[in-house]
Amino acid sequence: MRLPEPMLSRKDAGARFLAEMLPPAPAAGMQLSPWAAPPPRDAASPRARREIQDAGEEIFNRGVSGQDRQVAGMEEGDRQHPAPTAPPGRPHGDKLQLLLRRSQEAKHSAYCPYSRFPVGAALLTAGGEIFSGCNVENACYSLGVCAERTAILKAISEGHTSFRAMAIASDMGDNFIVPCGACRQVMREFGTDWDIYLTKADGTYIVKRLEELLPLSFGPEDLKKV
Ligand code: THU
Repeated sequence: MRLPEPMLSRKDAGARFLAEMLPPAPAAGMQLSPWAAPPPRDAASPRARREIQDAGEEIFNRGVSGQDRQVAGMEEGDRQHPAPTAPPGRPHGDKLQLLLRRSQEAKHSAYCPYSRFPVGAALLTAGGEIFSGCNVENACYSLGVCAERTAILKAISEGHTSFRAMAIASDMGDNFIVPCGACRQVMREFGTDWDIYLTKADGTYIVKRLEELLPLSFGPEDLKKV
């Protein structure tokens, strides 16, 4: 006799839904649609397990169809489990979609007559506000400023110093936009533990922690070590 399935938390149900229903993650490149969180790099690692759970949450946070809920063992209106919690600090659902969209929109303001390479950025503060930025070039080429730094400078000048995530957008169709080294260092000034969403023109993205983009970094804490 088959025993009844134990009741799954929304988080675990989401993870199971992903594991059973989605095709295997691409081996390299991790190209994802905007509604999916990153797949695991190594299915056996604790980090991979956490990422599967995160991805499950992502599905639920964005709202899945009734059919998908059934697949995941969930009923409409099931309230006996706590609402899914996002991984600490990581935006999800509508907030993430808004952040991604704001980076795309900011790109349209880019002032880039020399490079003709428009970039947009959207920065999410700890308090949930979004500051956007674009690249601003200059006839004196070296004075050009990247989109990422424009967004950071705007946020700082409005009194915000704690950040959860940044999304970056460009017109590149086949490559994820990546921040330059100078921008990585400016981002790092405000911590190593936040997320950078690197997008393609179609809105697909990969997400990296800042410490992945700038390992072994130098920051304000180091100045206190002498
Ligand atoms: N740029 C950015 O704004 N962000 C990036 O991540 C890469 C490059 C800008 C700088 C310059 O205005 C143009 O793109 C070409 O390098």
